[in-house]
Amino acid sequence: MNYKIALIRGDGIGPEVVGEAVKVMDAIGEKFGHTFTYTDVLMGGCAIDAVGKSYPDGTAEACKACDAVLLGAVGGPKWGHSTDPQKRPETALLSIRKDLGLYANLRPAALRPALAEACPLKKETAEKGIDLMIVRELTGGIYFGKRERYQTEDRGEECADRMAYSEMEIERIGRRAFELARLRGKKVASVDKANVLETSRLWRSVMHRLAEEYSDVQYEDVLVDNAAMQLVRDPGQFDVVVTENMFGDILSDEASMITGSIGLLPSASIGDQAPGLYEPIHGSAPDIAGQDKANPIATILSVAMMFRYSFHLSQEAKAIEDAVDAVLNEGWRTADIAKAGEQAVGTIRMGELIRQHL
Ligand code: IPM
Ligand code: MG
Repeated sequence: MNYKIALIRGDGIGPEVVGEAVKVMDAIGEKFGHTFTYTDVLMGGCAIDAVGKSYPDGTAEACKACDAVLLGAVGGPKWGHSTDPQKRPETALLSIRKDLGLYANLRPAALRPALAEACPLKKETAEKGIDLMIVRELTGGIYFGKRERYQTEDRGEECADRMAYSEMEIERIGRRAFELARLRGKKVASVDKANVLETSRLWRSVMHRLAEEYSDVQYEDVLVDNAAMQLVRDPGQFDVVVTENMFGDILSDEASMITGSIGLLPSASIGDQAPGLYEPIHGSAPDIAGQDKANPIATILSVAMMFRYSFHLSQEAKAIEDAVDAVLNEGWRTADIAKAGEQAVGTIRMGELIRQHL
């Protein structure tokens, strides 16, 4: 098969980590008899510098012409100050999610055995293992509601951000979560703030309806403040965690931290149609950009997710994941996951080692 892949290399360490991921894809192609053709798509801070906006015209169309999108990282302090939305890198991220209909954001947080020591939680907690998947709603809620800024008579300026959710939006993300749970540990925790928010009360009632339909999946409601606490107290209790956009943004950062190695975590953003978008959880890390220091593993594991979710190539996905584990088990580390005194390898060498183990 031939697969067309859009590459959004982006900013900071983005180009370096995507470069290694592409080499891994090519190696998989050779081994399993696929070809991958690549189209570079300009987006993010580099696009602001090149054409004056972070999300150039035609970005969505260029991606839609491909079977999947691989994104490195976008943004950086250089572009952090503009009040013009077109000159903010985040605008590009939100726009591409909306334009490609990527309503489901899958963010796995798993403790890899070789790196169990990196877990900042208590030893007993780490020993129980962590293997959870946050399913974050990605195209609704407060991120996409109406924003207002106006002058009041007696209280100065006032702002409002509207948070809205429809049954349709809740049901489709809920179904994704239950379907995924069936392929994993058969547990769904739905996170909301139903003791306060109306959107959460609707969220909960739709989830309950689905829980009845997916009666083979164990279901629970967890309030978001409690979820934040449980994630550090006993993350091993969770399998699939489904939640709305902003709660998912916050909890997924927390979840990534407890694995102790954000440089290892991939993510997938998918909708009902191709292309899905795959990217590491980490940011553009401008402080180490261009120095061959970045950890390419999260991007390489994002390729594994692409193979699994967009192309249904589970053998190929597993080959990548096994190669990463083998390299880690042999003790190879990039600087971000090396312990004091341990020697670290660079981005390119890490990519090479992983390819050697395919
Ligand atoms: C993320 C990021 C984005 C988000 C920002 C940069 C808009 O934090 O992907 O989690 O909040 O969705
Ligand atoms: Mg975030």
